[in-house]
This record gives sequence, structure tokens and C-alpha cells, in this order.
Amino acid sequence: MELLDKLNWRYAAKAMNGEKVAEEKIQRILEAARLAPTSSGLQPFEIIVVKNQEIKEKIKPVAWNQSVITECSHLLVFAAWDTYTADRINYMFDLTNDIRGFKNEGWENYRQMLLSSYPQKDAEENFNHAAKQAYIAFAEALTAAAFEGVDATPLEGFDPTAVDEILGLRDKGLRSAVMLPIGYRKEDEDWLVNLVKVRKPMEDLVTVIE
Ligand SMILES: Cc1cc2nc3c(=O)[nH]c(=O)nc-3n(C[C@H](O)[C@H](O)[C@H](O)COP(=O)(O)O)c2cc1C
Repeated sequence: MELLDKLNWRYAAKAMNGEKVAEEKIQRILEAARLAPTSSGLQPFEIIVVKNQEIKEKIKPVAWNQSVITECSHLLVFAAWDTYTADRINYMFDLTNDIRGFKNEGWENYRQMLLSSYPQKDAEENFNHAAKQAYIAFAEALTAAAFEGVDATPLEGFDPTAVDEILGLRDKGLRSAVMLPIGYRKEDEDWLVNLVKVRKPMEDLVTVIE
């Protein structure tokens, strides 16, 4: 199947059947998220993979009681850094130097530029920027799930403060941004499954400037 066929196949499943998704598929979906591009390559987020049913049961009531939370196989929680710190920025620059095996003056100047700007900014502003980066990885995971023939429901209908509390995210300097329950659609209980996908026409989306 072509990528666009798979993107047409996918939809935001409203009911899942509890069937487990093979770990190798989950790993490839996570790898797609890991490969997502991010601003300055900082990857300012982590992904919490909730397999534990009791934790899912706790999250469901603070997520509008959406049934996919407990019916899914794996619940991915994309949690962004609560702010940018010098340690966090240095970690990624040092990692780059380690992996590439050399230091580059331009890159080091760029590090200093980020160190002199991000950590001084308001934490909320930094979190919002980090959360945008988390959404890029979230979208990659969503597409990768479709590629694997696995359903995934993009989900931001939840109380982030409550989810942070349940998962102990604040202690780790993280805040939940968006979630992605992964599993298999339950066709006979899903009102959305047979409805035509609605998207605005291309001409309302794209403006070409020749
Ligand atoms: C960031 C984001 C958050 C969403 N949150 C929810 C949600 O909490 N519950 C839900 O049922 N659908 C949620 N959706 C699904 C959208 O309503 C759905 O993707 C959109 O209507 C397009 O339909 P499709 O995904 O089935 O093609 C969310 C989608 C996105 C991208």
C-alpha cells in the first residue's frame, strides 16, 4: 500500500478491541518518533509507554472517560520538558559531539547562543516550545502506526495536570502534552469507522506563489 492509502485508512479510532500490538511494531513506531526532527535537534520530550492496565484505568477518568485509553494495547504519553536548562541543552550538544566524533566551532557557537537564550526564558514559554517539538514526534508516530497497519487515536482531551500526577512527570521535569493510544479498532462499536474522511479541499489549504 502506498503511504497515502495508509493515511486514508487511518482514522481516530473511537473504540479499540484490546488486542495486543506486537512489540516489534511498537518499537518501529517509537523509532519513527525518535527520528523526528526537532528545533536545534534538542528532542525536548520523552515518551512514556503505558502498558499497565491499572495505570490506564487511572488515566481514563481524567481523559474524558475516552474508552480507547483502557482498550488500547499501548498508551503513548508524549511529555515535554518543563523548561530548557543548561544541562539539557549541553546533554544534546555533547551527545552530538560524541556520536560524530569531533567538535565544530560553528556548532559550539550555536550551543552558546542557545545557552544564553533558552534557560533565561519563562518556563511556560519554554514548555510550549518543547511541546511543539513533542507534537512533531507524535505525528511521526501516528503515521508510522498507519504504516504498520495499527490504529492510533491522537488524543489531547485530557487533564494534563492529573496525568502528570498519575505518572509522576513533574518530578522528572516533564509535563504531558499529548497522548497516543495504540491498538486495533473495534469496528462494530465505533460510530466513526465507516464515515467518510473529511478534509478541506486542497485549494483552501495550499497557496502556490509562482
Ligand atoms: C492533537 C489532536 C488531538 C486530538 N484529540 C482527540 C481526543 O481527545 N479524542 C478524540 O476522539 N479525537 C481526538 N483527535 C482526533 C481528531 O478529531 C481527528 O484526528 C480529526 O477529526 C480528523 O479525523 P481522522 O483522524 O479520523 O482522520 C485529536 C486529533 C489531534 C491531531
